[in-house]
Amino acid sequence: MTLVGFVLMSYVFFFFFFLSVGRCQLQTGFYASSCPNAESIVKSEVSKATQQDSRLPASLIRLHFHDCFVQGCDASVLLDDTSSFTGEKTAGPNNNSLRGFEVIDTIKASLESSCKGVVSCADILAIAARDSSVITGGPSWDVRLGRRDSTTASLSGANSQIPSPAFTVNQLISAFTAKGLSAEDMFTLSGAHTIGQAKCSSFSGRLFNNSGSGQPDPSIRPGFLKSLQSACPQGGDATALQPLDVATATTFDNQYYSNLLLGRGLLNSDQVLSTTVGTARNFVKAYSSDQSKFFSNFAGSMINMGNISPLTTPNGIIRSNCRVPS
Ligand code: HEM
Repeated sequence: MTLVGFVLMSYVFFFFFFLSVGRCQLQTGFYASSCPNAESIVKSEVSKATQQDSRLPASLIRLHFHDCFVQGCDASVLLDDTSSFTGEKTAGPNNNSLRGFEVIDTIKASLESSCKGVVSCADILAIAARDSSVITGGPSWDVRLGRRDSTTASLSGANSQIPSPAFTVNQLISAFTAKGLSAEDMFTLSGAHTIGQAKCSSFSGRLFNNSGSGQPDPSIRPGFLKSLQSACPQGGDATALQPLDVATATTFDNQYYSNLLLGRGLLNSDQVLSTTVGTARNFVKAYSSDQSKFFSNFAGSMINMGNISPLTTPNGIIRSNCRVPS
């Protein structure tokens, strides 16, 4: 081969090599050599923090969801507002509602001291979500890793792309398909509401004057309605909390779906899955009678959600402080 031929071949090789690296998919074991203890560090911090606060696993799973639905899974949700930067924390669905930021800080600090500048905040969110499922009794899965962190956030995206609890089934499906997820992913991931809490303001519209009808939502079972009305009276504390799963609030199981069949869903967006005739209701029935089917589908749908538009090399950065875009 001539020298010119060799140089040309090398260019072609490196062009395709970098193209393929740039497009590279997330992978399990991504930190196996660069930070072998990464996953065990996250797990032990999630476990320590859960001993202090039993709600924390729910809050961490939700953080990953709100991260992935806005600009992809890039840790944009963790960025703090400053005088020159607007993050997502003040968006309607996030403000005074998202929790767990301090635990992410603790995990990041621990990772930085073991392997400086290696593990992204976006990957921490994905690993912590898996560990949160496991610690509450839910399924485990191998987390695909290699996400990098954004230097930007989108307040308008957080306001418009995270589904509302007032949505109908069709609106919920559209919000998920807009992110490349399926209707089935939506039915399945809604099952994360088997743990965690919601403020009265997230569902009080259903209790007294549903959609301006002057009546409560008729799909709420009478005894459950009474207890919600007394927990969240009109003019009462809108920040008071109720469990999303009235039966087993801190255990990750399939009880959420059984609740729906009994008219005991807390949010409108939960209850409509069983009251709207169609595929959603079929899934609710199937999951309520088959926990292992719910668990294996949940693991698959969490992987799908974690794959939404990740930043991979050469894009994005590894933040040293998850709150700061540098
Ligand atoms: C299908 C559309 C969804 C809607 C409309 C929705 C809406 C909500 C709302 C309104 C709350 C209560 C917030 C508050 O009152 O402060 C909540 C809590 C929660 N959501 Fe969702 N959500 C949806 C899907 C998801 C998904 C896909 C996940 C995760 C995979 C998830 C995980 C959670 C968890 C675990 C909590 C409890 C958080 C805590 O206790 O800190 N949600 N959700």
